[in-house]
Amino acid sequence: MCGIVGYIGPRDVTHFLLEGLHRLEYRGYDSAGVAVSSLGGIEIRKREGRVSRLAALLEEQPVSGLAGIGHTRWATHGVPSDTNSHPHTGGNGEVVLVHNGVIENYDSLRTQLQGLGYVFRTETDTEAIAHLVAHHLGEQIKLGSDINKDTCLKAVTLTLGRLKGTYGLAVLFRELPDLIIAARNGSPLVVGVGKGEYFVASDASPLVGFTDQVVYLDDHELAVITADNMDLQHRETGERAPSVQTLDQVSTDTDLGDFEHYMLKEIYEQPHTIENALRGRLDDDEATAKFGGLNLSAQELRRIDRIVLTACGTSWHAGLVGEYMLEEFARVPVEVEYASELRYRNPPMSDRTMVFAITQSGETADTLAAMRECKRKGLPTLAICNTVGSTIAREADGGVYLHAGPEIGVASTKAFTSQVTVLALLSLFFGRMRNLSYQAGKRFIYNLKSMPEVITKTLEVHEKVKHVAEKYAHANNFLYLGRLYNFPVALEGALKLKEISYIHAEGYPAAEMKHGPIALVDENTPSVFIVPKSGIYSKVISNLEEVKARKGPVIAIACEGDEKIAKLADDVIFVPDVEEYLQPLVTAVPLQLLSYHIALHRGCNVDRPRNLAKSVTVE
Ligand code: M6R
Repeated sequence: MCGIVGYIGPRDVTHFLLEGLHRLEYRGYDSAGVAVSSLGGIEIRKREGRVSRLAALLEEQPVSGLAGIGHTRWATHGVPSDTNSHPHTGGNGEVVLVHNGVIENYDSLRTQLQGLGYVFRTETDTEAIAHLVAHHLGEQIKLGSDINKDTCLKAVTLTLGRLKGTYGLAVLFRELPDLIIAARNGSPLVVGVGKGEYFVASDASPLVGFTDQVVYLDDHELAVITADNMDLQHRETGERAPSVQTLDQVSTDTDLGDFEHYMLKEIYEQPHTIENALRGRLDDDEATAKFGGLNLSAQELRRIDRIVLTACGTSWHAGLVGEYMLEEFARVPVEVEYASELRYRNPPMSDRTMVFAITQSGETADTLAAMRECKRKGLPTLAICNTVGSTIAREADGGVYLHAGPEIGVASTKAFTSQVTVLALLSLFFGRMRNLSYQAGKRFIYNLKSMPEVITKTLEVHEKVKHVAEKYAHANNFLYLGRLYNFPVALEGALKLKEISYIHAEGYPAAEMKHGPIALVDENTPSVFIVPKSGIYSKVISNLEEVKARKGPVIAIACEGDEKIAKLADDVIFVPDVEEYLQPLVTAVPLQLLSYHIALHRGCNVDRPRNLAKSVTVE
């Protein structure tokens, strides 16, 4: 997690740094800070809390200079505090740096450096890097070298060789105010190339509006940057010519409009984002789906006899829906793997296995590692991703973009429904390659096309959900129960509630409840039953009755016109009736709204919940 930025050139340095940090705040918001170097030295401003607090500090105590670096933090080592905020200084302030990642051997480095007389002022792992760079610089000076670009580069390179872990780094040197050295291993880093200026950022979003020319750093690469030049080095193999790419399609549509929170805005965007996920991907004549970026021939695709979907959090829940759809329509066996597990497992996978990494951000560390592991084994490894130019999108063999626009709220909403939409398209595509009939394909397309309108209609539940939220906002435990396609939705509903309202919630397949969780049911524990019309409707109703028999309050998400449920449940939220495989798109919406309103009632920060960050770039 954490976001880093850097700038060198003629502009107002802090303007870019602050704008960039605002755009990267989704990566962490425990603290923010900048360092700006000028001929007079390096000035640091940092503060616990949001970037807006740093901006206020900079109003009171402005800084200007030739180059600068900035950081927005998601705390890993050391509590969020002014002291632990980045940038951090090394030695006696001759080196200042910002870091995104985790240094696993920081403890032993710290002990060694303390033995050499370095004084640690913070609890962070990063401070060890700063002192190490200062140390390696000092060693060269002792041997008679000057402080110049080469000695600084050598100091950083020697330091990197001693680090175990991940880093995206930007380093300033007090004696060379027009130099930034940036380096990457495991944490993303991009350099923006302007005319007489360079930008550094954790992802491309801060660069939009400043430059569209970018160089993505690969692992173990360093960029040595002055205002008029950049040298790219591989830590072990030496110099490489930078390949400058033109940035396209990165949207910074982060305007809240009339909405109070990004989460609500993003919930309301779903008719539009589902439409975007479908756009240009339906082939009416052939009754199938089409994709531009799978990068596999029809013959290669037909050989596939197993699909592995890997992801984390909400994206993993979308994967579960995908498993049900792909198995039903494409008749391909599917497994859904937590990326954090898959990266260290070694399940048997033949060369006929295809892997999809599902990710909104394209930067989730575990998903990236799992994807790399699969690629290493020679499997076709594709991404279902929202963020254009992200590491996973770039490293995958091919893939499908969600085109959902930036998702800012930490609780993922529109990305989930877009992922499910793309997985539905893939089910149609693989199904039509195998045994799905032309008529069935036509019907599938007809249903998919109706979804934007159906979701618009579903959003009409908002007022009803508000009342339900008010009634149950005091509860400290919730159960979310659904079966088949609505089991992943139960998991997703529970996750939404947990992460933004801090209420304990568990999602379960409704029938599984009898094997343990039913012991939790009492008059203070509401159960949210997702019970739209389906082949096993009556079975879910029996599960619901079991909860009622134990005095558990029941909130039901049911299909319009379902009179039976109105008699059984304490509260019912009616949603449009759609085919079972598309129900997750519909039933997820009231659950998103429910968690949103419960969180508001409890006074929680819905867009920036405690302890979380939008993009989990550490293991
Ligand atoms: O960016 P990704 O889709 O890879 O992120 C995966 C999870 O970190 C993410 O879905 C997380 O669970 C959300 N905050 C849930 O709302």
